[in-house]
Amino acid sequence: MNAPLPASLLKQHLIDPEICIRCNTCEETCPIDAITHDGNNYVVNPDVCNGCMACVPPCPTGSIDNWRVIPRARAYGVDDQFGWDALPPQEPVESLLAEAQAVAQAVAGQGGASASADAAPAFATPESASAALASAALAGAPDDALIEEGVAAAAVVVNRGATVPPWSAAHPYVNLYTHKEPVVATVVGNYRVTDDAADSDVRHIVLDFGEASFPVLEGQSIGILPPGVDARGRPHHARQYSVASPRDGERPGYNNLSLTVKRVAAGRDGNTHDGLCSNYLCDLAKHDTVRVIGPFGNTFLMPGRSGANLLMICTGTGSAPMRAMTERCRRRMDGKENGKLMLFFGARTRRELPYFGPLMKLPADFIDINLALSREPGQPKRYVQDLIVERAADVLALLNDDKTCVYVCGLKGMETGVLDALEHAAVQAGQDWSILHQALCRQGRLHFETY
Ligand code: A2P
Repeated sequence: MNAPLPASLLKQHLIDPEICIRCNTCEETCPIDAITHDGNNYVVNPDVCNGCMACVPPCPTGSIDNWRVIPRARAYGVDDQFGWDALPPQEPVESLLAEAQAVAQAVAGQGGASASADAAPAFATPESASAALASAALAGAPDDALIEEGVAAAAVVVNRGATVPPWSAAHPYVNLYTHKEPVVATVVGNYRVTDDAADSDVRHIVLDFGEASFPVLEGQSIGILPPGVDARGRPHHARQYSVASPRDGERPGYNNLSLTVKRVAAGRDGNTHDGLCSNYLCDLAKHDTVRVIGPFGNTFLMPGRSGANLLMICTGTGSAPMRAMTERCRRRMDGKENGKLMLFFGARTRRELPYFGPLMKLPADFIDINLALSREPGQPKRYVQDLIVERAADVLALLNDDKTCVYVCGLKGMETGVLDALEHAAVQAGQDWSILHQALCRQGRLHFETY
């Protein structure tokens, strides 16, 4: 545990713009809205942040876990942080100490002993003060205990899913490659997985890493660095994509992985959207190269225990991690390791549903598939949550089995509907949803990845 800092100094919480993948998880998680963003950076407002640490465990990259000791009077403001391309260095401990002592003396001169004591607590000698500052400046988070509290706080305040992985998940590697040192992958496949007549162009893109080590687990994501610069002449930020292949590769034994990418032509809000990275990826040809960072993600991971059940709920390209998990299970179908697989998959029509053909070929005793089609001619509009309600008894049986993990991936708007549907499944059977929900979160058994 770090020694307390003088009151005039702040251990300021900052986000590393060079590592951050702008996934919005921190902003969503912060219980007091201390995190905000502009088109450039995600930043922490020093006037609001109370160091509760709720945002730290869910961050897929660790970019959120950065701290600088600085005089409170000179704390980095939100506007400063918006302009950063890199974190500022930690100021030398000696100069901070001198500044803190000057403040303490000024306060003592004006207001007496109690103010002075408050300004420079706990330091019997200049050496102890210096050591405390040095440890505060060098340490990561302010306090290990706070991280523990943060995990608990995040589980409560997020009120959606777990911030810890299933206990039996394999150990994920994260941040092996960064913006400064990306790995170059080669495109070895790029084909459409929606019907040719469908409006949406969803593509299955296979990247080969050659000799480079790029270990991923099902549920993890990678960052793609699109070429070129933005309007301000800065390199584009990385865009995050879930991996659609299992840990042993799109092609077993090969050092490759796949992504499910939808060409974005226009924003959902109707405003034009450049779809910069999705168009870049969708237009790639075989043998083209791509700069990749990551892997990312240390919670949305499949359980490793034998007999684990997977309840997978997705829309559109949110099917990528479900494909990865399903494919891992399919490749070991002959063994006894698989539990039950239940899938709720939402798309506008059958033609718009990525991987429709291969999905339909999977045996019914391997996976229980429920397709929610919202715009299929001649059929009522169905969302995944509608089907969960229809299958409530089966869903609840899975939720009550501690070998079940639940994964939700796709449109942000589905989160509330899915949670309501899961709650309905519990309540219609007379069960207390809040107890079940808390258990699912605490045990790393309910995971969301939405956008
Ligand atoms: P909709 O027909 O209302 O757009 P997309 O094709 O845009 O990626 O969407 C995938 C599927 O998710 C579509 O069927 C879409 O239906 C559906 N969807 C849209 N909003 C929600 C929501 N709030 N909850 C669940 N599904 C949704």
